[in-house]
Amino acid sequence: MPHSHSDAEIEEEQRHFSNVVTTFQRYASYSIATNNRRRKDIFTLPKSDQELLTSLGYKEKLDAVDKAIFANAEFLSQIIADPEIFGHEVGDATDGDGNDLNPYLSGQKPHSHSHDHEHSSAPRKSNKYRPNEGDMDKVASTLKQFVRDWSEEGKEEREMSYGPMKEALLAHFHDVPERERRKLRVLVPGAGLGRLAYDVASLGFTCQGNEFSHYMLLSSYLILNKTTQAKYHTIYPYIQTFSNVQNRETLLRAISIPDVVPSLPRNSDFSLVAGDFEEIYGSGQELDVNGEEPQSGMWDAVLTCFFIDTAKNIVNYLRTIHRILAPSGVWINMGPLLWHWENNTTNDPSVELDLEEVKELARKIGFQISHERTIDATYVTNSEGMLGYTYRAAFWTATKL
Ligand SMILES: C[S@@+](CC[C@H](N)C(=O)[O-])C[C@H]1O[C@@H](n2cnc3c(N)ncnc32)[C@H](O)[C@@H]1O
Repeated sequence: MPHSHSDAEIEEEQRHFSNVVTTFQRYASYSIATNNRRRKDIFTLPKSDQELLTSLGYKEKLDAVDKAIFANAEFLSQIIADPEIFGHEVGDATDGDGNDLNPYLSGQKPHSHSHDHEHSSAPRKSNKYRPNEGDMDKVASTLKQFVRDWSEEGKEEREMSYGPMKEALLAHFHDVPERERRKLRVLVPGAGLGRLAYDVASLGFTCQGNEFSHYMLLSSYLILNKTTQAKYHTIYPYIQTFSNVQNRETLLRAISIPDVVPSLPRNSDFSLVAGDFEEIYGSGQELDVNGEEPQSGMWDAVLTCFFIDTAKNIVNYLRTIHRILAPSGVWINMGPLLWHWENNTTNDPSVELDLEEVKELARKIGFQISHERTIDATYVTNSEGMLGYTYRAAFWTATKL
């Protein structure tokens, strides 16, 4: 059982959730304002320059981007159509003055939105939150994360990371017949939009994803629980920046999601648990009747993909993984060391080890590392852009000694 939270913590969590919903709602007006800035800037130029730009069709391109923004906003409105499922009360889609936050979508809101009102006991409070650039970056990353996890275009990227992890999992349990895989419990912390966890469940393992970002949780809920048709949604994930773009087609590239309708055999066991990895699986939880911490030794495999560098304290992450694994359980890791809390502005502690130190730490904690290698992998990269990062990601499997 996770730590019990104080009223102040619960309130803070609710406020944060509500602000995320507001950020989704304000995506259109924010992005249109950015595009209007581009339009306005044209008029500051000498007439002859304006004419040259007009001859390139630059203004038409801006108009096409407006349309793509509306399409993205329509998709995002479906993600937040049913926020009460997360047990939080959220504001309605108006600002404090009663103006519609998402005027571009008037009349287009999905049916379930109005349906919510019939069930909510208290009137929804309006939310005056003004999302900042950082918030909007998270919405933009969420759209790209959809490409990684739930599009045909993302298949190549998934193969780079999820592919070797699934192979290693199957290899480790090669002597367990497929029909008995359900007995094996696999945890995927930092599950993002849930594709790796879903794929592992599709292989027949019992699988639990864990994720704490509201952006990710709301988004994966739509895909995993409300999708009835493949390629039902069309999004435009590459309109967010005009930098490093080859041509208009790549800027306006439409991506259809999801590539598959998520569905698992009836007897499968797949769940996504919302919350902080250290709080839910870490020590300090109430002991069970046997005097044990509830998660101790419960997991046959832990799969960390681009996750361990989200730690403030990597020692606690590795200790937790070690403690929750069953004897001879396997930890499969893949990812770089992009320490998420390095240079944080919130005074949070951050320990930033190099790769050798991480592996040495893992050994000292009680892991035997094997199958070590470096795998080139991209992460939400625009395969058609002029800039692409490739991580030389570290891969290993480690068994609990
Ligand atoms: C770099 S992303 C990787 C997502 C996914 N594994 C993938 O490969 O696409 C890291 C994820 O971990 C989540 N995360 C970070 N810290 C977490 C924590 N303490 N508990 C749960 N999730 C966390 C983030 O919200 C984010 O979705």
